[in-house]
Amino acid sequence: MKTITEILFERRSVRRYERRPVEAEKLDFIYRAIQNTSTSYNGQQFSVVAVTDQAIKEELYKIIGQKQVKTSAVFFVFCTDFHQLHIAGEAKGIVYPDFEEKIDGFTVGVIDAAMAMQNAMVACEALGLGCCAIGYVRTADPKRVSQILGLPEGVAIVCGLSVGHPNEEPDLKPKRPVSLAVHENHYRPRGELVPELIEYDAAIERFNETRNGTTTDNDWVGHILDYHREAKKHDLTGYLNSQGFLDASPHGKSYSKVPQENTVFLRYFLINKRAAITGQKRSRG
Ligand SMILES: Cc1cc2nc3c(=O)[nH]c(=O)nc-3n(C[C@H](O)[C@H](O)[C@H](O)COP(=O)(O)O)c2cc1C
Repeated sequence: MKTITEILFERRSVRRYERRPVEAEKLDFIYRAIQNTSTSYNGQQFSVVAVTDQAIKEELYKIIGQKQVKTSAVFFVFCTDFHQLHIAGEAKGIVYPDFEEKIDGFTVGVIDAAMAMQNAMVACEALGLGCCAIGYVRTADPKRVSQILGLPEGVAIVCGLSVGHPNEEPDLKPKRPVSLAVHENHYRPRGELVPELIEYDAAIERFNETRNGTTTDNDWVGHILDYHREAKKHDLTGYLNSQGFLDASPHGKSYSKVPQENTVFLRYFLINKRAAITGQKRSRG
């Protein structure tokens, strides 16, 4: 197991993997790291689909177009998930508040899923596995990917993560200096930031010209803004609405907001069970 210093400061995205599965005990370690994610309200508004079936990975690769999807041993799809709270609430006859229709609800789910992915990445690093986040799983054709994975209403894709035994050791990418990433007490003024940003931009250009493997003449800011320009073409509104997010219109949901008739019995059962347990405890006391 790697040390925390190695995990945090030697982490890099790994995109080439040995063609062999990840051992069951390592997968279990990753799953338990995902399970213990800190989440808003402890609502655990996330779920993960771990794709190990090669045929499904190949199918996803055809849509997503990133080779790590099919060459990884496991391809994780991290999702925001309100479905489980909905069906549990419905089973207990609780009126559903449709929190995921609000930007804050959606954000809560995305944060939970991202935190779970970060836990998985840390676990992978600790185990000596390589991994790479795959954002294209969200943008390429999320409706089709959701159909393949059988995602129900209330569940939407946030990000993918390819995992496997590393078959490369790319150079560590230089990051912004700490003085740009962390502001002490107040956000720093523009006049201080610009020279440091330009210096970092030049450092990235030098890195890209000399790094291991494929070299480029890419700078930092120009290259990233090109990505942003391109990414603006993806409109996820239709997808998110179809999964029940960010859409308060009445046609939006197939979920019932009022308790189902059959759940009234369950609720009655649960209340009586609780009363029976409470009664037992009292009689013991
Ligand atoms: C949310 C997210 C989405 C990403 N999507 C992709 C992707 O689709 N394909 C890819 O090759 N790398 C992807 N990456 C990896 C980044 O390119 C990588 O983290 C970044 O270049 C910094 O390099 P490092 O991870 O080696 O430090 C993604 C990273 C994050 C956090």
